[in-house]
Amino acid sequence: MSDPSYLGGDLAPVPDEIEAHDLEITGALPAELTGRYFRNGPNPRPGEDPGHWFGGHGMLHGVRLRDGRAEWYRNRWVRTRKFTENAPFVSDTGLDLTAVSANTHVIRHAGRILALVENGLPHEVTPELATVGPYDFGGRLTTAMTAHPKQDPLTGELHFFGYGFFPPFLTYHRLSPAGELVESREIEVPGPTMMHDFAVTENHLIWLDLPMVFDLNREGMPYAWEDGYGARIGLTPRAGGPTRWFDVDPCYVFHVGNAWEDDHGRVVLNAARYSPDAWFSLWRGIGGSVDPARHAGAAGTAALHRWILDPASGTAKEEALDDRGVEFPTFNEDLLGRHSRYLYTVGSDAIVKYDQRDGSAQVRKTGGNTGEAVFVPAEGAAGEDEGWLLSVVTSGESSELVVLDAADLSDVASVRLPRRVPAGFHGSWFAEG
Ligand SMILES: [Fe+2]
Repeated sequence: MSDPSYLGGDLAPVPDEIEAHDLEITGALPAELTGRYFRNGPNPRPGEDPGHWFGGHGMLHGVRLRDGRAEWYRNRWVRTRKFTENAPFVSDTGLDLTAVSANTHVIRHAGRILALVENGLPHEVTPELATVGPYDFGGRLTTAMTAHPKQDPLTGELHFFGYGFFPPFLTYHRLSPAGELVESREIEVPGPTMMHDFAVTENHLIWLDLPMVFDLNREGMPYAWEDGYGARIGLTPRAGGPTRWFDVDPCYVFHVGNAWEDDHGRVVLNAARYSPDAWFSLWRGIGGSVDPARHAGAAGTAALHRWILDPASGTAKEEALDDRGVEFPTFNEDLLGRHSRYLYTVGSDAIVKYDQRDGSAQVRKTGGNTGEAVFVPAEGAAGEDEGWLLSVVTSGESSELVVLDAADLSDVASVRLPRRVPAGFHGSWFAEG
């Protein structure tokens, strides 16, 4: 029997941990790019089949750049209790938020590097990718933590949430700039859903309450599409107060782009949206269960979409912005929550940059499987797209860390990595100095 789709091709895991030094560079790496690029993704051990792409142990791939050189590459599994002890996530005593696969994102806040997955606690890792252990903000975090927290560029606070399978289904949390958990607030939602991402604007928290509903009795990945759940987007005032819900057409969203408030107080949210047919196709392809009658054979790709939510009228306007298959929207996070013009996304073998002022798109073919393009602003940049995009591109057995000029998507440099890096999820650039 052939491997399931999530264990083969671009998703095939690597068997071990390695490191290499003084990597070969094509082009000229800007000296200013001194720091570390880390990227997370699922990587089951040899012989393991987690049953779903999302179930593989988290593996971090790291590249250290300094003064125009690529000093090292290394890859390390995140040593959660699931990895080291095969500890069960569900037991008679409840859920073990440390028995998870910390496989989705890696961020740095208040000097601490955290590997994240949405059903568990963050796991702290060192700048050399060794696992320190689970981190619960001094005992204050009692829920899971989303892999998509949002840092307010003006205050330095980190906003995030945790969703639960039992009440409270959704809890909002806020860290101070120093990394102290200073607020936890329950947000009322009708049920437990797979809420992967959210958005933050100057005054609002934005929730995606979509019909991938949790049921512990389900085999394998315990979520399935439920028509009866409906689909809604919620706005909660950051300062406190009730959530206002807007019904939207059923869909699924893993990832939002930026969101902001316009001059009329309306909230604009851009996201990579899956139609139900696209969703069923994707979910089945990565190991999820789908009613065969609902599998329409559509391409399992998302497309850029916009919602405009008007708190004054209580209405939501929906608009498809493009029909290309794209995912992993990124942008200049110095503008998080405020109006921004450019959005970077990836297609199967391309980076697609959208100009939201005129709706145009610029496509840069990469010739391989293309990972999320992380935007790194240039020092002292005046323009929103002045900086670089970092992305891991894989063709066959070879992978490169590609550095593009974010303004015109031209080549700046690429770092040849010593091994194939499986397609994964999210990465971050941790600048130094
Ligand atoms: Fe994600």
